[in-house]
Amino acid sequence: MHISIKNISEADCSCDVLILLFSEDGPHPYGRAGAAIAKLISRVWKKDFHGKDQEVLLMHAPDGIRPERLLFVGLGKKDDLSRERVRRSGGRALTYLRDLGIRKPALSTKFLSARRQSPADFAEGALLGLYQFDAYRSEKPDKKIAGLTMLCSPSADLNRRIRYVQTVAAASAFAKDLINTPANDMTPSDMARVALSLRGKGVSVKVLGRKDLEKLGMGAYLAVSSGSKEPPRFIVLEYRGDRKAPVVLVGKSITFDSGGISLKPSEGMEKMKYDMAGGAAVMGVMKAAAELKLPIHLVGLLPATENLPGGAAVKPGDVVRSFSGKTIEIVNTDAEGRLALADALGYAGRFKPRAVVDIATLTGACAIALGGEAVAMMGNDGQLLDAFKKSGDDTYERVCEMPLYEEYKEYLKSDIADIKNVGGRIGSLMASAYFLLEFAGQAPWVHLDIAGTAWVEKDRPYIPKGASAIGLRLILNVIERLI
Ligand code: BES
Ligand code: ZN
Ligand code: ZN
Repeated sequence: MHISIKNISEADCSCDVLILLFSEDGPHPYGRAGAAIAKLISRVWKKDFHGKDQEVLLMHAPDGIRPERLLFVGLGKKDDLSRERVRRSGGRALTYLRDLGIRKPALSTKFLSARRQSPADFAEGALLGLYQFDAYRSEKPDKKIAGLTMLCSPSADLNRRIRYVQTVAAASAFAKDLINTPANDMTPSDMARVALSLRGKGVSVKVLGRKDLEKLGMGAYLAVSSGSKEPPRFIVLEYRGDRKAPVVLVGKSITFDSGGISLKPSEGMEKMKYDMAGGAAVMGVMKAAAELKLPIHLVGLLPATENLPGGAAVKPGDVVRSFSGKTIEIVNTDAEGRLALADALGYAGRFKPRAVVDIATLTGACAIALGGEAVAMMGNDGQLLDAFKKSGDDTYERVCEMPLYEEYKEYLKSDIADIKNVGGRIGSLMASAYFLLEFAGQAPWVHLDIAGTAWVEKDRPYIPKGASAIGLRLILNVIERLI
């Protein structure tokens, strides 16, 4: 969707639909157009339209102004107004208009500027909300918004913000496409192919295959891939926006998680194509950072593999040697993410990073604890954790910190090896993170468990159901804080 800024009055805007925002607390005066629509507003106010959050009302415009129709959009009580409400109104308004077949709406920004809110947030909600995945439909939806015109005076700051949300929304759509694509078309090799397509766009890409991984001694990660015919692909992306030590982003990239020999129940197993959502978010971050030319050095590590119960599959009780040298007893082959991540976190040390962030659909327990409302976060560095909390509130990709008490180490004691890959059901969210901590090295490190948030079951105002690409906007926001 194209976004343009026009410095004309509402009354002079010849558009299909003019979007007007309202709070619950009283109708907003709309300048010269206001006189013409005042009558209309008083006819519907508190009868057909109340200004409640997410409420919409479409009407024919009165005579005397250029827009053909008006869309009233409610934002709720003025005291509850927030960037998130504005984002949601963008998603709500634009998806509503798209479904009606409208192509070129315009937005009056008067309400927002009177309340010191940015139209860029509205645009972000709109862009994210309009995402659709139709690659596998024979009949493509023909209803598309072509462009959104924002009525306001142009400024360098607004232009910059609009460019930012457009880039981020495009990267989010890119990540969502990867996640929504069925596992037969998104194998580790497919992920590597997509990563390689970022080459020449400011990102360098290297792909390691089984031979390289054996040489490196990545026994934990290789154990996961041993049950599949699809070869593992360890994808290394690098974007050098400055000459400092890099921030290394590690994304869980299990392109399908059947559980392996510890096979999952078949109900809901089809969802396990999204077990690479962490890796997709990392790729999206790399793409956006390169396009925005952010002054930061980033490395992305994606240990991609399937987790299948083939004849050569790793078995419960097997012991493997990780990249770090630590031996791991694999008690449950369904706790495969932490095995792949253990080796990737070890490999991250090679870059002498200033910070390491891993993002993973790691545990069912994360979804049980927090539902779809927050990312579970654990880490070893107060400052980095704080940055994530602030960015979580900013982007509404909220994080909830869980503890990493040293007592969790006990949960992972093995009778035969240095560590085992699962403790038990109790405290498994923290124990999984504690397992990663054992491989995380010395740099400040944050672990994000997105198992509950990476897939959305029901449309949200600006997150259509399916892949959410959660973590992408969050990490990009944290990066701004690290610059
Ligand atoms: N990929 C799953 C976690 C998951 C579950 C993600 C549901 C999204 C939705 C992970 O590999 C897994 O299977 N974890 C197990 C660990 C257990 C065996 C200790 C789990 O959480 O059940
Ligand atoms: Zn699993
Ligand atoms: Zn998994």
